[in-house]
Amino acid sequence: MNSFQINKILGALLGTCLVLVAVHMAAGAIFAPRVAAKPGYEVAVKQEGSGEAKAGPKTAGEPIEALLASASAEHGAQIAKQCAICHNFQEGQGPKIGPDLYGVVGRKVATAPGFNYTAALKALGGTWTFDKLNKWITDPRAMVPGTAMTFAGLSSEKQRADVIAYLDSLSKTPVSLPKASGANTPAAAPANPPAAAPAQPKAPAPAAKE
Ligand code: HEC
Repeated sequence: MNSFQINKILGALLGTCLVLVAVHMAAGAIFAPRVAAKPGYEVAVKQEGSGEAKAGPKTAGEPIEALLASASAEHGAQIAKQCAICHNFQEGQGPKIGPDLYGVVGRKVATAPGFNYTAALKALGGTWTFDKLNKWITDPRAMVPGTAMTFAGLSSEKQRADVIAYLDSLSKTPVSLPKASGANTPAAAPANPPAAAPAQPKAPAPAAKE
């Protein structure tokens, strides 16, 4: 192999490299990658009730519904022992320091027989809904200034949900607790169907080789 042949081979290699570089640059210019504005993938996620597990200090701002779905009336009965100093829970037991709480869920505010309510609580009006009870046992005196229920309140959202589930069980016809939604029962979320995978284009029939 003389030097002329070696030069030819090296030249061919160099030429190939130059072509590759040119193709690479051209391809880069044509197929410039789109830079995503935000890094990462865009994933469509349904926003579930946020801040659920936050047992923030004395905030009854969040609706209690989500927590009620997983609340435990048995556990609530334990927590409600704090209420039993002042309240009876069974039908017909009558008032203690506070009114009998049997059947309080769905009952008109300040209407248990035989109890002398404060004007402040009577003025509240309405019926005891889950939400209202949640606010009430968070901090009764914040909700109804002037109430005679001198109870500091339960700061844990989870405990409040359990107590409310327990109160709801104190009835022949308990108001049905909200069902778990979203995360627990995916079938119950038709508002957000999974993004249908775009129909895969049929694989093109293998092009007849010429
Ligand atoms: C220190 C005594 C005391 C404790 C402890 C207490 N309560 Fe009360 N509660 C009262 C009094 C007194 C009233 C009546 C308030 C009024 O008339 O202003 C009342 C009223 C209520 C009412 C309104 C009832 C109605 O008929 O409108 C509910 C509901 C209630 N309490 C729930 C609870 C729960 C749940 C607990 C425990 C987490 C609790 N209470 C702890 C004294 C107490």
